[in-house]
Amino acid sequence: MKTYHIAVIPGDGIGKEVVPAAVKVLHTAAELHGGIKFEFTEFPWSCDFYIEHGKMMPDDGLEILKDYEAVFLGAVGNPRLVEDHVSLWGLLLKIRRGFEQVLNIRPAKYFKGLNSPLADPKNFDFVVVRENSEGEYSEVGGRIHKGEDEIAIQNAIFTRKGTERAMRYAFELAQKRNRRLTSATKSNGIFHTMPFWDEVFNELKADYPDVAVNSTHIDALSAFLVIKPELFDVIVASNLFGDILTDIGGAIMGSIGIAPSANINLNGKYPSMFEPVHGSAPDIAGKGIANPIGQIWTAKMMLDHFGETELGGKILEAVEWVIAKGIKTPDIGGTATTAEVTEAVCGRILEK
Ligand code: NAI
Ligand code: MG
Repeated sequence: MKTYHIAVIPGDGIGKEVVPAAVKVLHTAAELHGGIKFEFTEFPWSCDFYIEHGKMMPDDGLEILKDYEAVFLGAVGNPRLVEDHVSLWGLLLKIRRGFEQVLNIRPAKYFKGLNSPLADPKNFDFVVVRENSEGEYSEVGGRIHKGEDEIAIQNAIFTRKGTERAMRYAFELAQKRNRRLTSATKSNGIFHTMPFWDEVFNELKADYPDVAVNSTHIDALSAFLVIKPELFDVIVASNLFGDILTDIGGAIMGSIGIAPSANINLNGKYPSMFEPVHGSAPDIAGKGIANPIGQIWTAKMMLDHFGETELGGKILEAVEWVIAKGIKTPDIGGTATTAEVTEAVCGRILEK
């Protein structure tokens, strides 16, 4: 029997509703599997915790989380109690940075029964691998002078190490999926970093002869994701480009309540963190109607990360079935509660 030890941080608002839902689905998946078990340790770190202790998590919070195999997080934020930049920097960003989670992974997929804003959505299914530690989002640069002589300089940082590890992860992911990889570039406009990005990509592709590759400029790629998202399998992108592409991916699916994400540590020194894309949704918190699909799909990504891909596939299949059946929360046009959707997913997983 393999036991996975997972640190659970429900956080604030609907995080406290959708995390227990996804935990239930994981226990159900383990029951189906028979040979694995999940041991969850819950941490109450949140805005409520801040009110009591003056901080979002204890000073040794990272030390406490370090030895778990993964961190499973709901959502953080309660602007009525704590300013958003305080809650974000005090917990989420501390974990992402402290644990060197250098990649952000976000899938996007067509679901039968979901209202995509696309007029005629085909059966798209792609994953964006976003470099998440350097690139355009750097603190290198500066400003001098005032008034009409004012100058602002922002440097983009692309290291060979950072670029290569993001691309290798994407190539390997493509090998496990449909063996197609698109690199988001802009080497026709950005003079130094993007030609470098292309060079590294072209070097690495020799190591993955079974993956069909292409490089597409970010402007055209953004348009393609709206017009023909079904063309894509895995996309690898720098920090800024990936930020934009992942939002398009979420948007064309039709609801923020279903989108999952993973923050991946690649050096094996720290755990990776799995969290849905949505926030704590204070407007619907406590009503029992939060959509648990984003958190449940996030659980599936965690299983994939553990190598339990068959079981992960089972969860996603159950989610697809439940949505197609019309068992949906109000945000996606249904009348079901969080609990009803969760029950339906668990029921489907155990069905023969
Ligand atoms: P939000 O994602 O919490 O909500 C945006 C809208 O989508 C709301 O109308 C909400 O009801 C709806 N929504 C989101 N998730 C849903 C779900 N699972 N089911 C049904 N409806 C859902 O974003 P917002 O309102 O901008 O932020 C609220 C708080 O969450 C803030 O404190 C913000 O800082 C925090 N936040 C935290 C994130 C995180 O923990 N990663 C990400 C985004 C926001
Ligand atoms: Mg963004």
